[in-house]
Amino acid sequence: MCGIFAYYGPKKNAPKLVIEGLKKLEYRGYDSWGIAYKIPNDIIIHKKIGKISDVKIKDLNPAQSNISIGHSRWATHGGVTQKNAHPHFTENKEIVLVHNGILENYLTIKKDLIKKGHKFISETDTEVIAHLIEEYCKKHSFEDSVKLAIKEMEGRYAIVVMKKDENEIIAARKGSPLIIGVGENKNEYFIASDIPAFLAYTNKVIYLDDNQLAFINNKKTSFFDIEENAHIQKRKVQIDWDIESAEKGQFPHFMIKEITEQKDTLSRAINQDPKIIERVANEIKKAYGTYLVGCGTAGKVCMVGEYLFAKIAKKHINFKFGSEFRSQKNFLTNKSLMIAVSQSGETADTLEAIEIAKQKGVKIVAIVNAENSSIARMADIVIPIKAGIEKAVASTKATTSQLAILTLLAYACNGGINEGKQLLISTASQINDMLNPRYEQHIMKLAKKIKDVESMYIIGRNANYPIALEAAIKLQEVSYIHAEGFAGGELKHGPIALISKNTPVIVLVENNEYRNEILSNAIEVKARGGYIIGVSPIKEEVFDFWIKVPDTGDSYPIVNIIPVQILAYQLAVLRKNNPDMPRNLAKSVTVK
Ligand code: M6R
Repeated sequence: MCGIFAYYGPKKNAPKLVIEGLKKLEYRGYDSWGIAYKIPNDIIIHKKIGKISDVKIKDLNPAQSNISIGHSRWATHGGVTQKNAHPHFTENKEIVLVHNGILENYLTIKKDLIKKGHKFISETDTEVIAHLIEEYCKKHSFEDSVKLAIKEMEGRYAIVVMKKDENEIIAARKGSPLIIGVGENKNEYFIASDIPAFLAYTNKVIYLDDNQLAFINNKKTSFFDIEENAHIQKRKVQIDWDIESAEKGQFPHFMIKEITEQKDTLSRAINQDPKIIERVANEIKKAYGTYLVGCGTAGKVCMVGEYLFAKIAKKHINFKFGSEFRSQKNFLTNKSLMIAVSQSGETADTLEAIEIAKQKGVKIVAIVNAENSSIARMADIVIPIKAGIEKAVASTKATTSQLAILTLLAYACNGGINEGKQLLISTASQINDMLNPRYEQHIMKLAKKIKDVESMYIIGRNANYPIALEAAIKLQEVSYIHAEGFAGGELKHGPIALISKNTPVIVLVENNEYRNEILSNAIEVKARGGYIIGVSPIKEEVFDFWIKVPDTGDSYPIVNIIPVQILAYQLAVLRKNNPDMPRNLAKSVTVK
């Protein structure tokens, strides 16, 4: 995914506003950046490889301008080069454009445009859109040309375009987020991929929906729906997000801030309208097949869900990663149910799974953090996890909140919503006690000991198995240490060959019927020289290092992942990695 920010309004420092906005969106992509701004009869463009956070406005020294667009990139089509950085433009900078998403039919369009004499300088799909609009501009107005280009474009996109001789910017979206902030001044608009980017200026927003365009100019800002082929009215809504939650505050990184916020986020997640939880529980009970679908960490949360529903609700629920869901299409009917789990609500693979399901009449429940996201909009029922903005690429607080919702749903399916709520309230309070500086210092001793290892492993049984997989993702993402999670019982079938002297192995132990079996697996690893790190409510002899977690019964997946989140963060810092912006990654993956 990439970050888009644009400004149109009376302020004369639009390039500065765009640079500042992009800095707030850097978590969406950080391999290169670029801005363009209008001056009389020309458009000035700056693009560079590297992070927008390193840019100082005084070094850039832009001219005065009141119209500017910008982009921070996470490379998909074409490598990380200055040429491939956005904005992209046509000859003489007639059309200048930023884009988030993928133009799937760009090669076909490109070939056609080459035949018509267009010359391309980058390897990107985005440059093709700029030329396509320019081609239409030969016979049509700027606004009509963008509409016509969009009708031809396949894939997901959010774009903001300007034209050298027009006092207008045009924004459009399909499947990638784009939100319009309505400024305090007359005719003042901020356009961004995410609200925190302009929250310092306005909390009044217009959500652009799929297949809609916004024409922002000094006459009358208007909106157009491609499918209806008509101008439409859009509603301005006031949002109640606060700026502090979008800033690091006293914390050195968003990741540790968000880990610490788990003191509160769990309580917020549980504080749901019980009617919605009961309604979803009823849908699960009457469905002929329920699918939990998510990607990455959200996928691991769904896997935990399988175990929770099996134990608490005595119900079989299927899990599939978004990218693997298509294989299930022959089993879908209008009696099936899909529960899509996503922090951002914009993950392309999850969106595709939802589209497949919707074609078969499947009812969709979305468990999301971003309440106005594409996934939330496509769902029949939305359960917001209310974790607040999550900015670090590695998901932490959203993960535990998603786990809490699935736990609550499993209890509700068994007629025990209040019991589930009580369990989670008590878990939240124990997390509050657990997350303190002493706890972090204790884990830091371990981080210092293992910071230079090449590989580490995590094992768990039952719902601790997907938590082991999630722990591995956390460690991989930010520490770059090779980490793998295994089901404890599977070790002896192969992976135990990887253990040698002092290989760190995190053993996730729950205090239930699986305890003795996972401890046996730990003993097997120790016999091969492994260094055993126990995450457990009880200290065991086999542990070389013990990280205590509270004994919270059925909510053990929630408490077990937290110390590994802290460890991953600390390893990243000790290894001089930026935990908020890990290499090669982006906060949400809006490409397939
Ligand atoms: O926004 P989503 O929850 O749909 O994102 C899914 C994954 O891309 C995400 O969980 C990813 O694996 C995280 N970086 C993990 O920390």
